[in-house]
Amino acid sequence: MEQRWTRKDLLSLEDLSDWEINLILDTAQEFKKVSQRKVKKVPALRGKTVVNFFIEPSTRTRISFELAEQRLSADIINVSASSSSISKGETLLDTAKNIEALQVDLIVMRHSAAGAPNFIASRVKSGVINAGDGAHSHPTQALLDLFTIREKKGKIKGLNVSIIGDILHSRVARSDLWGLLSLGANVTLAGPATLVPREFAKIDRVKVCHNMREAVEGADVINLLRIQHERQRAGFFPSINEYSNVFGLSKETMKYVKPDALIMHPGPINRGVELDSSIADGSQSVILEQVTNGLAVRMAVLFLVAGCLKND
Ligand code: CP
Repeated sequence: MEQRWTRKDLLSLEDLSDWEINLILDTAQEFKKVSQRKVKKVPALRGKTVVNFFIEPSTRTRISFELAEQRLSADIINVSASSSSISKGETLLDTAKNIEALQVDLIVMRHSAAGAPNFIASRVKSGVINAGDGAHSHPTQALLDLFTIREKKGKIKGLNVSIIGDILHSRVARSDLWGLLSLGANVTLAGPATLVPREFAKIDRVKVCHNMREAVEGADVINLLRIQHERQRAGFFPSINEYSNVFGLSKETMKYVKPDALIMHPGPINRGVELDSSIADGSQSVILEQVTNGLAVRMAVLFLVAGCLKND
């Protein structure tokens, strides 16, 4: 039986089969070519309206979704908390219902509350794409990470990937973990014991460690996560300096890193905290390529999801 994409929403990587993840990555590979042409535009979403509904700050995700929509020829409306009636107390559901009443096809949503996109997706006919919700999920970040690893290494299955930092509060870590495991990678989660719960080690092909040398030695990919200053205030580690000395990727720690290992970071980077500036800008870093690939991945997701809307 022929397999095809059937989801009107993209909410989490945990929902997706490895076939669906690979379909998004293969589709993104085709869309990446569009951005390398003289005319960087295709008519795939002509006549479709997309609302970018960002109730939390964003640079990379917001800009690349908007650019992806422009490259696919969609009509676009941008809504933020301060520019909408949410600032007057209107509920999230009422706001979404009003957007739906305007026959909007797709809602791209970032929200500080975990589960907010799932809540809306089950209550509106418009497609909903999760652009990051609380500490829950950031599916398009994980997809662009997978795309970048596959592009650079030629495969994902069997690779050793270390994710280092605040695993406990990170939606990126959670989404990367499910995507990497689905496609056959081995994952090490590293950081202070307060930020890397041991329960993760119960999952097949997942290792938990609290030692930086152990985390980076033998890794094919090292993904550093942003350390949020509010975590220090909450007592998860004694000071930013101490975190940086023990878990920051420094010139000293780079001695243990394979010369062909990829250095990744979802951004925004705290330079000199989780990652030394010279490494962030160095020859092993693919951080800006991740951003470039984010555009292709978001074009692919918008295209696939738009193809499954009820009114088509
Ligand atoms: N990686 C990421 O989500 O960055 P932004 O918060 O800038 O979108």
